[in-house]
Amino acid sequence: MPAEAAPRELRVELGERSYPIRIGPHVLADAASYQSLRGRPLRVVTDANVAALYLEPLLATLGLSAAETFVLPPGESNKSWANAERVLDWLLAARLPRDGVLVALGGGVVGDLAGFCAAVYQRGIDLVQVPTTLLAQVDSSVGGKTAVNHARGKNMIGAFHQPRLVVADTAVLGSLPPRELAAGLAEVIKCGLLGDAPLFARLEREMERLVGLDPEAVAEAVERCCLLKSRIVAADERESMDGGGPRALLNLGHTFGHAVETHTGYTQWLHGEAVGLGLCMAADLSARLGWLARSDADRAVALVRRAGLPVKPPPGMTPAHFRELMARDKKVAGGRIRLVLLRAIGEAAMTADFDPAQLEQTLLAFCAAAPAP
Ligand code: GLY
Repeated sequence: MPAEAAPRELRVELGERSYPIRIGPHVLADAASYQSLRGRPLRVVTDANVAALYLEPLLATLGLSAAETFVLPPGESNKSWANAERVLDWLLAARLPRDGVLVALGGGVVGDLAGFCAAVYQRGIDLVQVPTTLLAQVDSSVGGKTAVNHARGKNMIGAFHQPRLVVADTAVLGSLPPRELAAGLAEVIKCGLLGDAPLFARLEREMERLVGLDPEAVAEAVERCCLLKSRIVAADERESMDGGGPRALLNLGHTFGHAVETHTGYTQWLHGEAVGLGLCMAADLSARLGWLARSDADRAVALVRRAGLPVKPPPGMTPAHFRELMARDKKVAGGRIRLVLLRAIGEAAMTADFDPAQLEQTLLAFCAAAPAP
């Protein structure tokens, strides 16, 4: 058997809040990943699905018992204020001291909720992210965004709280359902499109290797995305308030995508699936505006399709639905929708300065392509 490649390590450079990201197969159960935590009181938050697969090896590696774990029910609906309160109550009952560390083992729901609890427990304790989905490994575990959902909106209550360490075990992706894997690939394609043209070209060569979870291809993609995100976060940690800073570019495809998620009640489309379609729509609009060659917009759509992601809106979704939902986006300023668009593959920019008639053409083209309800 060939020897396993050594873990890759990156750093998010944020002064005294800098932290390492350790990437590779089996780093979850490698004591070397957690050396910096030695002697610290630890607690783990996870969900029932992930616990069944990966809790035991993590606890054994950290020298913890099951009693030192809080297991949430799985699913986006559990990223709630009520569950954050339960976790906080459990931490208080356990008297976790201020030098304690909360370890988030799971996908974006667990990472966001545990991160939020770490941000507010006794005004903030250290957090370790152990992301177990591709989407969490390439996006949500890095950069310090934490949140719970509110009945009035997704991620409406939250805080910026950078982790102390991210441990991204690429071997665990083997247990992801194919839809979840594809959803994570949408964020990988997003990274290539917005800021890493060589990554995009590599994805064009290797998409089938990624879908087949080739260890080298997966570790390389996770590393490239984390590298891009770490640079963006280092430059614009809190997504500067005017929304024009580099972190806002990570929202490429998201304004279209959020419209689809809201239209379908957050129950039918995975976030990454909606982002994948959003990337296609953003590329199409960029081509209509003359920013991007039409052939490059077609390359974006072809890659999203090869990842196994939808490239058409859900049945029955119309341009009017998109218009109404996109107008509610957080990035709307002075009544104008601001969109992240592409100047080239590997170069994105945010703008409100586009002809609405061109946006309408994009909406019409994609909705006409949608299957009938
Ligand atoms: N997921 C986008 C960001 O972390 O800013």
